[in-house]
Amino acid sequence: MKAIICTKYGPPEVLQLKDVEKPTPKENEVCIKIFATTVTASDCIVRGFNVPILFWLPMALAVGFPKPRQPILGMVLAGEVESIGKTVKSFMKGDQVFGFDRFVFGTYAEYKCMPEDGMLTTKPSNVNYEEAAAVPYGGLLALHFLRKGNIQSGQSILVYGASGAVGTSAVQIARYLGAEVTGVCSTANLALVKSLGAGTVIDYTKEDFRNRGALYDFVFNAVGKRKAKLQCNDVLTPNGKHISVDDGSPTLHIEELILLKELVEAGKLRPVIDRCYPLEQIVEAHRYVDQGHKKGNVVITVTQDEK
Ligand SMILES: NC(=O)c1ccc[n+]([C@@H]2O[C@H](COP(=O)([O-])OP(=O)(O)OC[C@H]3O[C@@H](n4cnc5c(N)ncnc54)[C@H](OP(=O)(O)O)[C@@H]3O)[C@@H](O)[C@H]2O)c1
Repeated sequence: MKAIICTKYGPPEVLQLKDVEKPTPKENEVCIKIFATTVTASDCIVRGFNVPILFWLPMALAVGFPKPRQPILGMVLAGEVESIGKTVKSFMKGDQVFGFDRFVFGTYAEYKCMPEDGMLTTKPSNVNYEEAAAVPYGGLLALHFLRKGNIQSGQSILVYGASGAVGTSAVQIARYLGAEVTGVCSTANLALVKSLGAGTVIDYTKEDFRNRGALYDFVFNAVGKRKAKLQCNDVLTPNGKHISVDDGSPTLHIEELILLKELVEAGKLRPVIDRCYPLEQIVEAHRYVDQGHKKGNVVITVTQDEK
């Protein structure tokens, strides 16, 4: 099968298209023919081993050192179940699925095996594979951090970095939870963030949101502290909270992926795709994501869906 191999950490050019052996599912696994995956901010961090020195050891333990333990990177997939292991009960050949495999990777390829009890479920029926692939990464992270805020209907929420993969999901999920949403982004993304349901949009290139005199029950920094250190105490309500997308590593649950599927099917969560590249152009895709200004998601078409 075709796959993108990363045999050392470094710039996007370390990624190479190769022919490798197709995986065979174990008893409890399904083998998925992948139609689409994404290049996430996390993929670029892993590929470049791009973390502060304090995190080198945990990162090395998690992904391998001096080279990636799993040479096929990629965490997100949307595709079709091609075969199943002997004991698999919850999936059948032909099921259209989408999923997320944060620590095992392997989705920059034509096929990948996952345990049936992994982060895998049937894909939303109203979107294509590319759109489905644009849901899990930003959606799962946004859901996790918004839940930490215990958001109640009517509360006032600010999403900083509202145009990225996490930000575009956070704006929509916060609206679904009944919050009044303010989105902060750059000029080019104001219309996008407004279209996702933000009642107020603030252009961070022209104005500091903290100077508006508004108070928020929850401020979610979806850019992360490495790029945007925010002092927010003065803009929080008395019980207000401030959290950053890099505050800890979330534990994810399959129920959350199922909820995301339902939100997409109900029209409450729209997958946002900035650019789509074929698998062969993954180096260009990584170069683009490395810049840190994508709008929503960058999707990779692995195989064209002919249906
Ligand atoms: N805790 C965890 O375990 C975990 C897991 C995965 C990811 N993350 C983190 O989540 C973060 C977000 O991921 P993502 O995929 O959403 O990123 P992304 O799609 O690359 O989005 C970044 C967004 O941030 C905005 N931005 C960039 N620099 C900015 C600045 N200085 N000030 C304000 N906005 C800025 C950009 O908007 P403009 O173009 O408008 O500037 C862009 O839309 C990443 O940093 C990643 O490391 C954490």
